[in-house]
Amino acid sequence: MSLAAKPASRLFHRLVCLLMIFSAITGAALAQQAVSIRFDQAARIFHIDAADTSYVFGINEHADLQALYWGKRLASGDTFPAAKASPEAASFDLSFTVTPHEFAGWGSGLYVEPDLKITFPDGNRDLELKYVSHAIDGDKLSIVMKDISREVYVTLYYQPDAETGILRRWAVIENRTSEPFTIEQVSAATWNLPRGTDYRLRYLSGRWAAEDTVNEQMVEPGKTTLESRRGTTGHQNNPWFAIDKLSTAGAETGGVWFGALGWSGSWQITIERDQLQQVRISGGPNSFDFGYRLQKGEKFETPIFYGGYSSEGIGGASRLLHRLEMDTLVPNAPHEKLRPVLYNSWEATGFNVDEPGQVALAEKAASIGVERFVMDDGWFGQRKDDHAGLGDWYVNPQKFPHGLKPLIDKVHSLHMDFGLWVEPEMVNPDSDLYRKHPDWVLNFTGRPRTEGRNQLVLNLARPDVRAYVLGFLDKLLTENDIAFLKWDYNRNWSEPGWPAVAPEDQKNVYVDFTNNYYSILADLRAKHPGVEIESCSGGGGRVDLGVIRYVDEFWTSDNTDAFDRLTIQNGFTYAYAPGVMMAWVTDSPTWVNNRTLSLEYRFLSSMQGSLGIGANLNKWTPEDFATATKMVAQYKSIRELVQRGSLYRLITPEHDSEQSVTESVSRDKSQAVVFAFLHSSGELYPYPRLYLRGLDANASYTLTALDGKVAETTPAAASGAYWMEHGVDVLLRGDFQAAALKLDRAP
Ligand code: GLA
Repeated sequence: MSLAAKPASRLFHRLVCLLMIFSAITGAALAQQAVSIRFDQAARIFHIDAADTSYVFGINEHADLQALYWGKRLASGDTFPAAKASPEAASFDLSFTVTPHEFAGWGSGLYVEPDLKITFPDGNRDLELKYVSHAIDGDKLSIVMKDISREVYVTLYYQPDAETGILRRWAVIENRTSEPFTIEQVSAATWNLPRGTDYRLRYLSGRWAAEDTVNEQMVEPGKTTLESRRGTTGHQNNPWFAIDKLSTAGAETGGVWFGALGWSGSWQITIERDQLQQVRISGGPNSFDFGYRLQKGEKFETPIFYGGYSSEGIGGASRLLHRLEMDTLVPNAPHEKLRPVLYNSWEATGFNVDEPGQVALAEKAASIGVERFVMDDGWFGQRKDDHAGLGDWYVNPQKFPHGLKPLIDKVHSLHMDFGLWVEPEMVNPDSDLYRKHPDWVLNFTGRPRTEGRNQLVLNLARPDVRAYVLGFLDKLLTENDIAFLKWDYNRNWSEPGWPAVAPEDQKNVYVDFTNNYYSILADLRAKHPGVEIESCSGGGGRVDLGVIRYVDEFWTSDNTDAFDRLTIQNGFTYAYAPGVMMAWVTDSPTWVNNRTLSLEYRFLSSMQGSLGIGANLNKWTPEDFATATKMVAQYKSIRELVQRGSLYRLITPEHDSEQSVTESVSRDKSQAVVFAFLHSSGELYPYPRLYLRGLDANASYTLTALDGKVAETTPAAASGAYWMEHGVDVLLRGDFQAAALKLDRAP
């Protein structure tokens, strides 16, 4: 199996290589090359330097790859002595298990998480991987390792990102033996931190309608596993981590090591502190119920594990990831296209979609400046509610007697493009598809098929299911002028059987399903290059750096309560850019909490990401339309800073804070926007003064209150230093209040 390579990122890396070759040829004495990979032949040490980060490891006396340094960039002349395996700590803790490995096979007395565990047909399960050779190809280092006796080859890849210093690591396992074997556990990489006892781990947890809670805990002796056993990424944990040192950490200061796994199937990241206070982080497909049978001659390519370092605190770590995502990972990156303001029908009409109803909403949406109209669930098959229709992807003739064309034409005449909801991997038992192909779903023969939301999961690993899904989506996009698909996925797996293949191959479903998901997305995009795609799974259940290579945005949460969203969006942006974070303005009181919030508050909450509107516009008053028209125009004037700029979390809503404040600064520092929210004021305390970040200290900026008020004493213009060091007082009092400020650099 192999993950589809992304042409745009290849192009980007070629450019980086060309740049490097150019600078070498011209002999340009660059004090600090963007990317430098070198091998110190004498000491047998690899040095990878990129942006502000260095990563160093060596080949030790046993031919094991041993971690030596990961952190802030070192001087180009810095050298390290040859790597030397850690000594046996006790007869119980042998040298091999206490040495910090880059990628260790399970064998030879290894007690920490292995990177690769294999069972061979003869029962042998011992695997010892040793360095064989390496190659430096532009910005990519590859290292071949081999088992001490068997023809098992592992190639480790290291590819740093020039702009952010984030290192991509992955591995390819090759079976050159004469028989198949079973991979029982595999990581993309292991990251090692210097020995320490005051490491703090941050990670994201959640559930449906409550995604992306930021959790903090000390890295204590033992192991923490972040994971999904659900078949896909899941809401429960997100495949991201960040670790800092409590003694030196601030929101914008101190070193932070962070990483994100690019895998949308069941996954795991383990953070382990051993008995010698060494900390290791490894990640890959979830090893629970895992068993990938690799035929002789075949290769298995792991997902990419991205790892980075920031010396500017957790804020800096987030900004590096945002930059990588927006400039390198999203399809067609780095592209300047901003997310259009979107309308979605789901919260307005539910399953009750039809042509006149959607036309009425489209006209109203266009009147406030919406640029994309999306029809959600309910348009296909016999879909009246969530009991039927999934799998039957024909246009419902009662709801749309003339097909989708009249609606799409109408939407275009209103100067919007058209988007459509699909849930391709699912089937309702009450569908023609299931009646015809009951064997197409994940199942174990003779066992129950547990339904969730009245639906079952199609086994996308099957070639016929893959062909069906690609076929209907291709037809839909060929026959209709559709600019956008919202690709949904509304349950997790149960009974993950694949009875059609030999028992020993059935667990390949975990990998083959996910790879087919990626390859369908890649094929669709290649065939329909103008189409954009949103990844949705009941909100934010499929958000990760694997699928981001094929989709333009994520649906963040089904919870659209603008106050709850402050917390959800806050967590989301630890790992993912506001430019891929969809945020809708919906009705008030919300269905979630029955909470009433002003339309301005709801807009300002959503304007921190990629703005959408999901309210029932049929119920809006003329005042609502006027407010919305004003706010949509405001958003368009600042969306570039929000979507592509640098995000600073001035006050997080974590730890039950009464306030939440974000600031987005444009890349050239010429503009900034601040969104400030108040949950509830008390005891006559004023709103805390806001100290801005990221401005040019010496430049002069004018300040405009887009919404809300600032203290009367606030100057109309002042230096960046003034706004950052003196700060600004926003006048917010009461419950659920919000304000927005804009700063413009004087010409
Ligand atoms: C999921 C999505 C929603 C909506 C519904 C439709 O819950 O997250 O936004 O599309 O499905 O059934």
